[in-house]
Amino acid sequence: MTIFRGTFIDTPENPFNGGNLRVDSDTGLLVQDGVIVARGPFLEIRSAHPAEQIVDLTDGVVLPGFVDTHVHFPQIRAVGGLGLPLLEWLDRYALPEEARMADVSYATGVANEFVRGLAAAGTTSALVFGAHYSDAVDALFNAASGVGLRITSGLVLSDRLLRPELLTTPVRAYAESLALANRWHNVGRNRYAVTPRFSLSCTDDLLATCRELMDAIPGALFTSHVNENEAEIASVADLFGGADYVTTYDRHGLVDRRTVLAHNVHPTDVELKVLATSGATVAHCPTSNAALGSGLFPLSRHLQYGVRVALGSDVGAGTGFSLLKEGLQAYFCQQLLADQGRPLTAAHLLYLSTAAGAEALDLPHVGHLSVGQHFDAQLLRPADGSPLAVGLTHAEDTEEALARIFTLGTPADVQAVWINGTLLHS
Ligand code: GUN
Ligand code: ZN
Repeated sequence: MTIFRGTFIDTPENPFNGGNLRVDSDTGLLVQDGVIVARGPFLEIRSAHPAEQIVDLTDGVVLPGFVDTHVHFPQIRAVGGLGLPLLEWLDRYALPEEARMADVSYATGVANEFVRGLAAAGTTSALVFGAHYSDAVDALFNAASGVGLRITSGLVLSDRLLRPELLTTPVRAYAESLALANRWHNVGRNRYAVTPRFSLSCTDDLLATCRELMDAIPGALFTSHVNENEAEIASVADLFGGADYVTTYDRHGLVDRRTVLAHNVHPTDVELKVLATSGATVAHCPTSNAALGSGLFPLSRHLQYGVRVALGSDVGAGTGFSLLKEGLQAYFCQQLLADQGRPLTAAHLLYLSTAAGAEALDLPHVGHLSVGQHFDAQLLRPADGSPLAVGLTHAEDTEEALARIFTLGTPADVQAVWINGTLLHS
Protein backbone atom coordinates (compact mmCIF):
# COMPACT_ATOMS: atom_id res chain seq x y z
CA MET A 1 0.00 0.00 0.00
CA THR A 2 1.01 3.61 -0.52
CA ILE A 3 0.09 6.78 1.35
CA PHE A 4 -0.18 9.83 -0.92
CA ARG A 5 0.35 12.99 1.15
CA GLY A 6 -0.75 16.37 -0.14
CA THR A 7 -3.47 18.94 -0.72
CA PHE A 8 -6.34 17.27 -2.58
CA ILE A 9 -9.06 19.26 -4.37
CA ASP A 10 -12.13 17.60 -5.90
CA THR A 11 -15.91 17.81 -6.37
CA PRO A 12 -17.55 14.64 -5.03
CA GLU A 13 -20.88 16.52 -4.91
CA ASN A 14 -22.16 18.34 -8.01
CA PRO A 15 -21.67 22.10 -7.49
CA PHE A 16 -24.56 22.82 -9.89
CA ASN A 17 -26.74 21.12 -7.24
CA GLY A 18 -25.22 22.95 -4.29
CA GLY A 19 -22.18 20.72 -3.72
CA ASN A 20 -19.06 22.38 -2.36
CA LEU A 21 -15.51 22.22 -3.56
CA ARG A 22 -13.67 19.77 -1.27
CA VAL A 23 -10.24 20.97 -0.25
CA ASP A 24 -8.20 18.88 2.19
CA SER A 25 -4.72 20.03 3.09
CA ASP A 26 -2.04 17.83 4.61
CA THR A 27 -4.17 14.82 3.93
CA GLY A 28 -3.27 11.19 3.44
CA LEU A 29 -4.86 8.89 0.87
CA LEU A 30 -4.07 5.25 1.48
CA VAL A 31 -4.09 3.40 -1.84
CA GLN A 32 -4.18 -0.37 -2.18
CA ASP A 33 -4.17 -2.05 -5.61
CA GLY A 34 -5.10 1.27 -7.20
CA VAL A 35 -8.08 1.93 -4.93
CA ILE A 36 -8.32 4.58 -2.19
CA VAL A 37 -9.01 2.56 0.97
CA ALA A 38 -8.61 5.30 3.59
CA ARG A 39 -8.50 9.08 3.61
CA GLY A 40 -7.91 11.53 6.45
CA PRO A 41 -5.43 13.85 8.11
CA PHE A 42 -1.97 12.65 7.06
CA LEU A 43 -0.72 12.13 10.61
CA GLU A 44 -3.70 9.92 11.45
CA ILE A 45 -3.36 7.83 8.31
CA ARG A 46 0.36 7.43 8.87
CA SER A 47 0.02 6.39 12.51
CA ALA A 48 -2.64 3.84 11.55
CA HIS A 49 -0.35 2.47 8.79
CA PRO A 50 3.20 3.18 9.95
CA ALA A 51 4.91 0.67 7.65
CA GLU A 52 3.50 1.95 4.36
CA GLN A 53 5.48 3.84 1.76
CA ILE A 54 4.77 7.60 1.64
CA VAL A 55 4.64 9.63 -1.59
CA ASP A 56 5.03 13.27 -0.63
CA LEU A 57 3.13 15.62 -2.94
CA THR A 58 3.01 18.59 -0.58
CA ASP A 59 4.90 20.84 -3.00
CA GLY A 60 1.87 21.03 -5.35
CA VAL A 61 -1.87 20.51 -5.56
CA VAL A 62 -3.51 17.19 -6.44
CA LEU A 63 -6.63 17.08 -8.62
CA PRO A 64 -8.52 14.06 -10.00
CA GLY A 65 -7.37 13.03 -13.48
CA PHE A 66 -9.35 14.85 -16.16
CA VAL A 67 -12.06 13.10 -18.16
CA ASP A 68 -12.23 14.33 -21.78
CA THR A 69 -15.62 13.40 -23.22
CA HIS A 70 -14.90 14.38 -26.83
CA VAL A 71 -11.57 14.29 -28.66
CA HIS A 72 -10.52 13.07 -32.13
CA PHE A 73 -7.40 10.95 -32.24
CA PRO A 74 -6.62 11.43 -35.98
CA GLN A 75 -6.70 15.20 -35.74
CA ILE A 76 -3.80 16.14 -33.53
CA ARG A 77 -1.66 17.17 -36.49
CA ALA A 78 -4.58 19.36 -37.69
CA VAL A 79 -4.79 21.54 -34.56
CA GLY A 80 -4.50 25.24 -35.33
CA GLY A 81 -6.38 25.32 -38.63
CA LEU A 82 -7.93 28.66 -37.90
CA GLY A 83 -10.30 30.85 -39.86
CA LEU A 84 -12.96 28.49 -41.22
CA PRO A 85 -16.43 27.38 -40.12
CA LEU A 86 -17.16 23.70 -39.47
CA LEU A 87 -17.91 22.28 -42.93
CA GLU A 88 -15.09 24.17 -44.66
CA TRP A 89 -12.72 23.31 -41.80
CA LEU A 90 -13.56 19.60 -42.16
CA ASP A 91 -12.78 19.69 -45.89
CA ARG A 92 -9.64 21.77 -45.61
CA TYR A 93 -8.00 20.49 -42.40
CA ALA A 94 -9.62 17.52 -40.69
CA LEU A 95 -10.69 15.12 -43.43
CA PRO A 96 -7.40 15.10 -45.39
CA GLU A 97 -5.68 14.13 -42.15
CA GLU A 98 -8.35 11.49 -41.42
CA ALA A 99 -7.69 10.00 -44.86
CA ARG A 100 -3.99 9.58 -43.98
CA MET A 101 -5.09 7.09 -41.30
CA ALA A 102 -5.41 4.51 -44.09
CA ASP A 103 -1.64 4.09 -43.66
CA VAL A 104 -1.29 2.09 -40.47
CA SER A 105 2.26 3.18 -39.78
CA TYR A 106 1.20 6.83 -40.07
CA ALA A 107 -1.78 6.11 -37.80
CA THR A 108 0.45 4.39 -35.25
CA GLY A 109 2.69 7.44 -35.04
CA VAL A 110 -0.31 9.70 -34.54
CA ALA A 111 -1.82 7.32 -31.96
CA ASN A 112 1.36 7.45 -29.90
CA GLU A 113 1.47 11.25 -30.08
CA PHE A 114 -2.20 11.33 -29.13
CA VAL A 115 -2.03 9.21 -25.98
CA ARG A 116 1.11 11.00 -24.81
CA GLY A 117 -0.63 14.34 -25.37
CA LEU A 118 -3.66 13.30 -23.34
CA ALA A 119 -1.61 11.99 -20.42
CA ALA A 120 0.69 15.01 -20.38
CA ALA A 121 -2.36 17.26 -20.03
CA GLY A 122 -3.55 15.36 -16.93
CA THR A 123 -6.29 13.48 -18.79
CA THR A 124 -6.68 9.92 -17.53
CA SER A 125 -9.98 8.92 -19.18
CA ALA A 126 -11.39 9.88 -22.57
CA LEU A 127 -14.15 9.17 -25.04
CA VAL A 128 -12.23 9.28 -28.28
CA PHE A 129 -13.47 9.62 -31.84
CA GLY A 130 -11.43 6.93 -33.56
CA ALA A 131 -10.62 6.74 -37.26
CA HIS A 132 -12.52 5.59 -40.34
CA TYR A 133 -10.05 2.68 -40.69
CA SER A 134 -10.04 -0.40 -38.42
CA ASP A 135 -6.28 -0.78 -38.36
CA ALA A 136 -5.95 2.80 -37.17
CA VAL A 137 -8.45 2.17 -34.37
CA ASP A 138 -6.39 -0.89 -33.38
CA ALA A 139 -3.35 1.40 -33.29
CA LEU A 140 -5.16 3.75 -30.92
CA PHE A 141 -6.24 0.99 -28.53
CA ASN A 142 -2.73 -0.48 -28.61
CA ALA A 143 -1.16 2.90 -27.82
CA ALA A 144 -3.68 3.57 -25.04
CA SER A 145 -3.05 0.13 -23.54
CA GLY A 146 0.69 0.84 -23.52
CA VAL A 147 0.17 4.00 -21.47
CA GLY A 148 -2.67 2.65 -19.32
CA LEU A 149 -5.27 5.32 -20.14
CA ARG A 150 -8.99 4.59 -19.78
CA ILE A 151 -10.10 4.93 -23.39
CA THR A 152 -13.51 4.40 -24.93
CA SER A 153 -13.39 4.59 -28.72
CA GLY A 154 -14.57 3.08 -31.94
CA LEU A 155 -14.55 2.99 -35.72
CA VAL A 156 -15.90 6.25 -37.18
CA LEU A 157 -18.76 5.55 -39.61
CA SER A 158 -20.03 7.54 -42.60
CA ASP A 159 -21.70 6.43 -45.81
CA ARG A 160 -22.34 9.69 -47.64
CA LEU A 161 -21.08 13.19 -48.41
CA LEU A 162 -17.49 12.83 -47.23
CA ARG A 163 -14.55 12.16 -49.53
CA PRO A 164 -15.05 8.64 -50.97
CA GLU A 165 -12.13 6.94 -49.22
CA LEU A 166 -13.75 7.69 -45.84
CA LEU A 167 -17.05 6.02 -46.69
CA THR A 168 -18.28 2.58 -45.70
CA THR A 169 -21.52 0.61 -46.10
CA PRO A 170 -23.88 -0.53 -43.35
CA VAL A 171 -22.83 -4.17 -43.86
CA ARG A 172 -19.12 -3.41 -43.68
CA ALA A 173 -19.63 -1.00 -40.78
CA TYR A 174 -21.35 -3.71 -38.77
CA ALA A 175 -18.72 -6.36 -39.41
CA GLU A 176 -15.70 -4.13 -38.82
CA SER A 177 -17.15 -2.48 -35.71
CA LEU A 178 -18.07 -5.80 -34.14
CA ALA A 179 -14.64 -7.24 -34.89
CA LEU A 180 -13.01 -4.24 -33.21
CA ALA A 181 -15.33 -4.51 -30.21
CA ASN A 182 -14.48 -8.21 -29.92
CA ARG A 183 -10.80 -7.32 -29.81
CA TRP A 184 -11.03 -4.34 -27.42
CA HIS A 185 -14.31 -3.89 -25.54
CA ASN A 186 -13.69 -4.39 -21.80
CA VAL A 187 -10.16 -5.56 -22.55
CA GLY A 188 -7.90 -3.91 -19.98
CA ARG A 189 -9.17 -0.35 -19.55
CA ASN A 190 -10.53 -0.12 -23.09
CA ARG A 191 -14.18 0.03 -24.06
CA TYR A 192 -16.01 0.36 -27.35
CA ALA A 193 -18.11 3.31 -28.59
CA VAL A 194 -20.37 3.11 -31.64
CA THR A 195 -19.36 6.27 -33.52
CA PRO A 196 -21.22 7.58 -36.57
CA ARG A 197 -19.43 10.81 -37.56
CA PHE A 198 -22.64 12.93 -37.67
CA SER A 199 -26.04 12.37 -39.20
CA LEU A 200 -25.06 14.67 -42.07
CA SER A 201 -22.69 11.93 -43.30
CA CYS A 202 -24.87 8.93 -42.34
CA THR A 203 -27.93 7.44 -44.01
CA ASP A 204 -30.84 6.07 -42.00
CA ASP A 205 -29.61 2.58 -42.92
CA LEU A 206 -26.25 3.26 -41.32
CA LEU A 207 -27.85 4.74 -38.19
CA ALA A 208 -30.09 1.66 -37.95
CA THR A 209 -26.91 -0.42 -38.13
CA CYS A 210 -25.52 1.62 -35.22
CA ARG A 211 -28.51 0.52 -33.12
CA GLU A 212 -27.84 -3.11 -34.06
CA LEU A 213 -24.25 -2.62 -32.96
CA MET A 214 -25.36 -1.18 -29.62
CA ASP A 215 -27.43 -4.34 -29.10
CA ALA A 216 -24.54 -6.57 -30.12
CA ILE A 217 -21.98 -4.88 -27.82
CA PRO A 218 -23.38 -4.80 -24.27
CA GLY A 219 -22.09 -1.82 -22.32
CA ALA A 220 -20.90 0.10 -25.39
CA LEU A 221 -21.26 3.87 -25.47
CA PHE A 222 -22.74 5.81 -28.39
CA THR A 223 -21.17 9.05 -29.52
CA SER A 224 -21.58 11.54 -32.36
CA HIS A 225 -22.01 15.27 -33.07
CA VAL A 226 -25.14 17.40 -32.85
CA ASN A 227 -26.30 20.99 -33.51
CA GLU A 228 -22.82 22.41 -33.92
CA ASN A 229 -23.14 24.84 -36.82
CA GLU A 230 -26.13 26.53 -38.44
CA ALA A 231 -25.28 25.50 -42.04
CA GLU A 232 -24.76 21.90 -40.85
CA ILE A 233 -28.10 21.91 -38.99
CA ALA A 234 -29.96 23.21 -42.06
CA SER A 235 -28.42 20.46 -44.25
CA VAL A 236 -29.37 17.77 -41.73
CA ALA A 237 -32.96 19.03 -41.70
CA ASP A 238 -33.02 18.90 -45.53
CA LEU A 239 -31.64 15.37 -45.62
CA PHE A 240 -33.98 14.00 -42.93
CA GLY A 241 -37.25 15.51 -44.13
CA GLY A 242 -37.23 18.42 -41.71
CA ALA A 243 -36.50 16.38 -38.57
CA ASP A 244 -34.57 18.09 -35.81
CA TYR A 245 -31.00 16.92 -35.29
CA VAL A 246 -31.57 14.98 -32.05
CA THR A 247 -34.47 13.13 -33.68
CA THR A 248 -32.19 11.86 -36.45
CA TYR A 249 -30.45 9.76 -33.77
CA ASP A 250 -33.40 9.28 -31.43
CA ARG A 251 -35.65 7.66 -34.02
CA HIS A 252 -33.10 4.85 -34.24
CA GLY A 253 -33.05 4.42 -30.45
CA LEU A 254 -29.61 6.02 -30.19
CA VAL A 255 -30.34 8.63 -27.50
CA ASP A 256 -30.14 7.26 -23.98
CA ARG A 257 -27.98 7.20 -20.85
CA ARG A 258 -25.05 5.75 -22.82
CA THR A 259 -25.11 8.55 -25.41
CA VAL A 260 -22.62 11.43 -25.58
CA LEU A 261 -23.32 14.06 -28.24
CA ALA A 262 -20.74 16.76 -28.87
CA HIS A 263 -21.47 20.50 -29.12
CA ASN A 264 -25.25 21.14 -29.09
CA VAL A 265 -24.65 24.86 -29.50
CA HIS A 266 -28.02 25.50 -31.20
CA PRO A 267 -30.63 23.16 -29.66
CA THR A 268 -34.39 23.62 -29.71
CA ASP A 269 -36.35 23.31 -26.48
CA VAL A 270 -37.86 20.07 -27.75
CA GLU A 271 -34.40 18.60 -28.30
CA LEU A 272 -33.27 19.65 -24.82
CA LYS A 273 -36.32 17.90 -23.36
CA VAL A 274 -35.47 14.69 -25.20
CA LEU A 275 -31.84 14.84 -24.12
CA ALA A 276 -32.84 15.42 -20.49
CA THR A 277 -35.45 12.68 -20.36
CA SER A 278 -33.17 10.16 -22.02
CA GLY A 279 -30.22 10.86 -19.68
CA ALA A 280 -27.85 11.56 -22.59
CA THR A 281 -24.84 13.81 -22.06
CA VAL A 282 -23.75 16.81 -24.09
CA ALA A 283 -19.98 17.18 -24.48
CA HIS A 284 -19.38 20.93 -24.34
CA CYS A 285 -16.31 21.82 -26.42
CA PRO A 286 -15.75 25.51 -25.83
CA THR A 287 -12.43 26.20 -27.57
CA SER A 288 -13.65 24.39 -30.67
CA ASN A 289 -16.93 26.32 -30.62
CA ALA A 290 -14.96 29.57 -30.48
CA ALA A 291 -12.30 28.58 -33.03
CA LEU A 292 -14.85 27.50 -35.65
CA GLY A 293 -17.19 30.36 -34.75
CA SER A 294 -19.90 27.78 -34.01
CA GLY A 295 -21.49 29.89 -31.29
CA LEU A 296 -21.87 30.39 -27.56
CA PHE A 297 -23.02 27.29 -25.69
CA PRO A 298 -26.40 27.75 -23.95
CA LEU A 299 -25.42 26.12 -20.65
CA SER A 300 -28.28 27.70 -18.67
CA ARG A 301 -30.87 26.13 -20.96
CA HIS A 302 -29.18 22.74 -20.66
CA LEU A 303 -29.21 23.03 -16.87
CA GLN A 304 -32.82 24.27 -16.78
CA TYR A 305 -33.95 21.20 -18.69
CA GLY A 306 -31.68 18.93 -16.64
CA VAL A 307 -29.40 17.82 -19.49
CA ARG A 308 -26.10 16.35 -18.33
CA VAL A 309 -23.08 18.36 -19.52
CA ALA A 310 -19.37 17.56 -19.37
CA LEU A 311 -16.29 18.95 -21.15
CA GLY A 312 -14.50 17.88 -24.31
CA SER A 313 -11.32 19.24 -25.86
CA ASP A 314 -12.47 18.40 -29.40
CA VAL A 315 -8.90 18.29 -30.67
CA GLY A 316 -8.30 19.11 -33.54
CA ALA A 317 -10.97 21.86 -33.92
CA GLY A 318 -10.27 22.46 -30.23
CA THR A 319 -7.01 24.19 -29.46
CA GLY A 320 -5.23 21.59 -27.33
CA PHE A 321 -5.60 18.73 -24.87
CA SER A 322 -5.80 20.69 -21.65
CA LEU A 323 -9.15 20.66 -19.89
CA LEU A 324 -7.83 23.60 -17.86
CA LYS A 325 -8.05 25.62 -21.07
CA GLU A 326 -11.49 24.19 -21.90
CA GLY A 327 -12.69 25.06 -18.40
CA LEU A 328 -11.46 28.64 -18.76
CA GLN A 329 -13.04 28.95 -22.21
CA ALA A 330 -16.33 27.55 -20.83
CA TYR A 331 -16.20 30.30 -18.23
CA PHE A 332 -15.46 32.98 -20.89
CA CYS A 333 -18.35 31.77 -22.99
CA GLN A 334 -20.84 32.14 -20.12
CA GLN A 335 -19.47 35.59 -19.33
CA LEU A 336 -20.00 36.63 -22.96
CA LEU A 337 -23.60 35.43 -22.82
CA ALA A 338 -24.19 38.05 -20.11
CA ASP A 339 -27.80 37.73 -18.84
CA GLN A 340 -28.24 34.43 -20.66
CA GLY A 341 -25.00 33.00 -19.26
CA ARG A 342 -24.46 30.77 -16.24
CA PRO A 343 -21.76 32.29 -14.03
CA LEU A 344 -19.19 29.60 -13.31
CA THR A 345 -16.86 29.22 -10.33
CA ALA A 346 -13.65 27.24 -10.19
CA ALA A 347 -15.63 24.44 -8.50
CA HIS A 348 -17.94 24.22 -11.54
CA LEU A 349 -14.94 24.08 -13.87
CA LEU A 350 -13.33 21.28 -11.88
CA TYR A 351 -16.59 19.33 -11.74
CA LEU A 352 -17.16 19.68 -15.51
CA SER A 353 -13.66 18.44 -16.26
CA THR A 354 -13.66 15.51 -13.81
CA ALA A 355 -16.74 14.04 -12.08
CA ALA A 356 -19.24 15.16 -14.75
CA GLY A 357 -17.16 13.39 -17.42
CA ALA A 358 -16.84 10.26 -15.31
CA GLU A 359 -20.64 10.13 -14.94
CA ALA A 360 -21.10 10.69 -18.67
CA LEU A 361 -18.74 7.87 -19.56
CA ASP A 362 -20.19 5.55 -16.92
CA LEU A 363 -16.93 5.36 -15.00
CA PRO A 364 -18.34 5.48 -11.46
CA HIS A 365 -14.99 4.76 -9.80
CA VAL A 366 -13.13 7.80 -11.12
CA GLY A 367 -13.71 11.58 -11.20
CA HIS A 368 -13.09 12.31 -7.51
CA LEU A 369 -10.84 11.05 -4.76
CA SER A 370 -13.16 9.57 -2.13
CA VAL A 371 -12.63 6.23 -0.38
CA GLY A 372 -13.58 3.42 -2.76
CA GLN A 373 -12.53 5.35 -5.88
CA HIS A 374 -9.58 4.48 -8.08
CA PHE A 375 -6.60 6.77 -7.59
CA ASP A 376 -6.61 8.56 -10.98
CA ALA A 377 -4.95 11.85 -10.17
CA GLN A 378 -2.60 14.58 -11.30
CA LEU A 379 -0.08 16.71 -9.45
CA LEU A 380 -0.02 20.36 -10.50
CA ARG A 381 3.21 22.05 -9.63
CA PRO A 382 4.21 25.12 -11.64
CA ALA A 383 7.85 26.05 -12.21
CA ASP A 384 9.26 28.35 -9.56
CA GLY A 385 8.72 31.99 -10.45
CA SER A 386 6.19 31.25 -13.20
CA PRO A 387 3.02 33.39 -13.26
CA LEU A 388 1.02 30.44 -11.91
CA ALA A 389 3.50 29.83 -9.08
CA VAL A 390 3.32 33.50 -8.15
CA GLY A 391 -0.49 33.42 -8.38
CA LEU A 392 -0.72 30.37 -6.13
CA THR A 393 1.57 31.90 -3.54
CA HIS A 394 -0.67 34.97 -3.32
CA ALA A 395 -4.07 33.27 -3.50
CA GLU A 396 -6.28 34.06 -0.51
CA ASP A 397 -7.81 30.60 -0.34
CA THR A 398 -7.88 27.35 -2.24
CA GLU A 399 -10.90 28.21 -4.41
CA GLU A 400 -8.98 31.28 -5.57
CA ALA A 401 -5.91 29.09 -6.13
CA LEU A 402 -8.00 26.72 -8.25
CA ALA A 403 -9.35 29.64 -10.31
CA ARG A 404 -5.74 30.64 -10.98
CA ILE A 405 -4.90 27.08 -11.97
CA PHE A 406 -7.70 27.14 -14.57
CA THR A 407 -6.65 30.62 -15.73
CA LEU A 408 -2.90 30.14 -15.99
CA GLY A 409 -2.31 26.39 -15.95
CA THR A 410 -1.04 24.40 -18.93
CA PRO A 411 0.23 20.84 -19.44
CA ALA A 412 3.68 22.16 -18.47
CA ASP A 413 2.35 22.51 -14.91
CA VAL A 414 1.19 18.89 -14.75
CA GLN A 415 4.09 17.32 -12.99
CA ALA A 416 2.82 13.78 -12.54
CA VAL A 417 -0.19 11.66 -13.44
CA TRP A 418 -1.41 8.41 -11.88
CA ILE A 419 -3.98 5.92 -13.09
CA ASN A 420 -5.06 3.24 -10.62
CA GLY A 421 -2.27 4.44 -8.34
CA THR A 422 0.44 3.86 -10.97
CA LEU A 423 2.60 6.78 -12.06
CA LEU A 424 2.30 7.45 -15.79
CA HIS A 425 4.01 10.66 -16.59
CA SER A 426 6.58 12.48 -14.55
N1 GUN B 1 -18.71 17.14 -37.08
C1 GUN B 1 -18.41 16.06 -37.83
N2 GUN B 1 -17.11 15.76 -37.76
C2 GUN B 1 -16.56 16.69 -36.95
C3 GUN B 1 -15.23 16.91 -36.49
O1 GUN B 1 -14.30 16.20 -36.81
N3 GUN B 1 -15.05 17.98 -35.66
C4 GUN B 1 -16.08 18.77 -35.25
N4 GUN B 1 -15.82 19.79 -34.44
N5 GUN B 1 -17.32 18.58 -35.69
C5 GUN B 1 -17.56 17.55 -36.53
ZN1 ZN C 1 -15.80 16.49 -32.67
